[in-house]
Amino acid sequence: MTPAASPDLVAIVGATGALGFGLTLRFGNAGIPVLVASRDASRAVKAAERATELTGLNNFAGRRNDDAVAAASLVILAVPFAGQSPILRELRPFLRPGQVIVDATVPLASAVGGRATRLLGIGLGSAAQQTRELVDPDIGVVAALHTVSAAKLADLDKPLAEDVLLCGDDRADKGSVANLIGQIDGLRPVDAGPLEMAGIVESLTALMISLNIRYRARAGIHVTGLPEALWPPETTDSTVASSPASTTT
Ligand SMILES: NC(=O)c1ccc[n+]([C@@H]2O[C@H](COP(=O)([O-])OP(=O)(O)OC[C@H]3O[C@@H](n4cnc5c(N)ncnc54)[C@H](OP(=O)(O)O)[C@@H]3O)[C@@H](O)[C@H]2O)c1
Repeated sequence: MTPAASPDLVAIVGATGALGFGLTLRFGNAGIPVLVASRDASRAVKAAERATELTGLNNFAGRRNDDAVAAASLVILAVPFAGQSPILRELRPFLRPGQVIVDATVPLASAVGGRATRLLGIGLGSAAQQTRELVDPDIGVVAALHTVSAAKLADLDKPLAEDVLLCGDDRADKGSVANLIGQIDGLRPVDAGPLEMAGIVESLTALMISLNIRYRARAGIHVTGLPEALWPPETTDSTVASSPASTTT
């Protein structure tokens, strides 16, 4: 169960890539118009056409990253870690107050030629906290979608059944992102706490990759023991921080 009305438009930066295109298909399939964004307008248009072809729906429009970001209130960032800072610096002038960036970036060591089962150390704690630093304070940042396999998203014939952990410092922003993600059949958004938790969630991707290699699988996560109604969460992050009982498992 997720709050609020359906989002009217989502822009996906990096939508020509694995995760971005998988999300494009699933959001489009859920009836959400998608701005399929790329650094190159023609690549964006081709990806949008391909999404239309694969889904049979007219919910996709290809745009250059800057045009897409200027047009949508929710922006998903789905680029490799090496591109995260440069693209955010480039897009910063096109962002406006009240927008929310959903950051799916994982700082895998493969970004610098290392293993995809290892993470790079980030001075600020996580890729999402780095995004927080790079955009103005009146832009929301929510970390999400790190543990969902791009291949599974793109395989529209296969149902999804997994959780998406959300980290962010603003409850309303997290609610909006939960609402967006909850539109995809089989994805359950879960509030994983403030943005400072993002490093832990990002590290789960390395774990998923390790499991995928070991079992030739497409692993995802499902948290057990949670109540049926997850939104809005009953406890705020400040209550958690001040409650000794909250440390019990
Ligand atoms: N793949 C997964 O299953 C998965 C799952 C969860 C999270 N993630 C995370 O999501 C992000 C995207 O992963 P991916 O596998 O989709 O990556 P990808 O396919 O390698 O790249 C995605 C897109 O990002 C754009 N891009 C590439 N380099 C860039 C740069 N230097 N600056 C700006 N844009 C650049 C490209 O689009 P244009 O050239 O068209 O601009 C590319 O198609 C990564 O941080 C990854 O760790 C991935």
